[in-house]
Amino acid sequence: MPIRKMTEADLPQVLAIQQKLSFQDWSEKVFVSEINASYALCVVYEREGAPEILGYAVFHLMGPDSELLSIATDASVQRQGIGAELLQAGLGKIDLSPGDKMFLEVREGNEKARRFYERHGFEAYGKRESYYDDGETAILYRKGQYV
Ligand SMILES: CC(C)(COP(=O)(O)OP(=O)(O)OC[C@H]1O[C@@H](n2cnc3c(N)ncnc32)[C@H](O)[C@@H]1OP(=O)(O)O)[C@@H](O)C(=O)NCCC(=O)NCCS
Repeated sequence: MPIRKMTEADLPQVLAIQQKLSFQDWSEKVFVSEINASYALCVVYEREGAPEILGYAVFHLMGPDSELLSIATDASVQRQGIGAELLQAGLGKIDLSPGDKMFLEVREGNEKARRFYERHGFEAYGKRESYYDDGETAILYRKGQYV
């Protein structure tokens, strides 16, 4: 499996992917603090046989209130299943059947990501108007059982 934990040495490549996609602007400091947080899972997808990072994801694994904070696949290799593997790295660590949930928020206009999340069983359950700095609305998604 070409997925492994992110280290600080990966950050130049991780930041380059983020910058090219321009969907988020986390600083190196933010990534370092996530890598070192006990509740966070930060993973990268590394091309097999070559030390090139093609994607990454950051989760907060807190049982019933787990969260996907960031996920990205390099534009040159999207729609090849890498995002699905990155997402599964986090979903596989929580137990969705007895009530653990995974939450996330995404820009209303980010159709690619919304389709990706919906395809993986996330349901939109609310929105936050003017949530982002530029005024765009955030759509709130969750995955889990609600009984
Ligand atoms: C969302 C993202 C991580 C998906 O990564 P990926 O490696 O392409 O994911 P997968 O190959 O596993 O899944 C592809 C699915 O995502 C959706 N998708 C991806 N690109 C799409 C596009 N251009 N148009 C429509 N749907 C798209 C589709 O459901 C697609 O399935 P399909 O190809 O069978 O139609 C990737 O598009 C990305 O990095 N986007 C930019 C960063 C971002 O917006 N992150 C999420 C916000 S935090």
